[in-house]
Amino acid sequence: MTAGPMRPRIVAVETLDGLAQDHPAAMRSRRDLRRVHGAMGTRSIVLRALRTMQQTQRQATPLKVLELGAGDGSLMLGVAQALASAWPPVELTLLDRQSVVERTTIERYAGLGWSAVAQVIDVHDWAAAATHAAPPGRAAARWDLIIANLFLHHFEDAQLVALLGAVAATTDCFFACEPRRDWIALAGSHLVGVIGANAVTREDAVLSVHAGFRGKELTALWPASAAPWQLQEYPAGLFSHCFRAQRGEAN
Ligand SMILES: C[S@@+](CC[C@H](N)C(=O)[O-])C[C@H]1O[C@@H](n2cnc3c(N)ncnc32)[C@H](O)[C@@H]1O
Repeated sequence: MTAGPMRPRIVAVETLDGLAQDHPAAMRSRRDLRRVHGAMGTRSIVLRALRTMQQTQRQATPLKVLELGAGDGSLMLGVAQALASAWPPVELTLLDRQSVVERTTIERYAGLGWSAVAQVIDVHDWAAAATHAAPPGRAAARWDLIIANLFLHHFEDAQLVALLGAVAATTDCFFACEPRRDWIALAGSHLVGVIGANAVTREDAVLSVHAGFRGKELTALWPASAAPWQLQEYPAGLFSHCFRAQRGEAN
């Protein structure tokens, strides 16, 4: 059910974002998130999207991949486990403003041939740096792929315009999997207690759906550019909404 009189996006500060990273309720909520992803089928949704992204855009070795708002890096680890045998080596940067990637997670990436580093920075600072002219003699950082999961919905549209502008300036290939703002997802978000989620996760699940996306809302925020981009925005699974952008002409 993607049609219906859903209200416009409402972005509220999520409870997890207001807790210290080592607060027990925050640590528990981050673990809950893994089960929430299981219920949402996020790993499969991400895999399906990445496998169908143009082969030609995956020829650099090693691939430079950036995840924005990566959290503890566990979702992407599941993706890496499924992709590692088919992909070249990957240099993965897990960007988040909290330092919550465990050493064992980095080691598990290494076991797959992916060298992962955590970058602790606010994404707005990253975006500002990414869109500033590179100093003479230094090229701006380029990424073969930028990805975001359950992240873009944290931001108001005006912030997303700046953020997506920075993404478009630094990669040819972007994918995001976000909460879908519809009645099914809203009903699901009220039921996350069923999978044992704590109060923080239960509250944030509902807030996330109200801040989620539908239709072509992310496409509308993508920067207009002279260069051609292929943009796709679509519902996925029961609760998710995806956006992908690839530079280049359609085949
Ligand atoms: C809902 S969690 C998703 C984590 C991970 N992507 C996943 O799907 O498991 C959102 C993450 O965004 C991070 N975050 C929120 N606002 C941020 C900001 N302004 N800059 C960087 N990270 C931010 C939070 O710390 C949190 O780890």
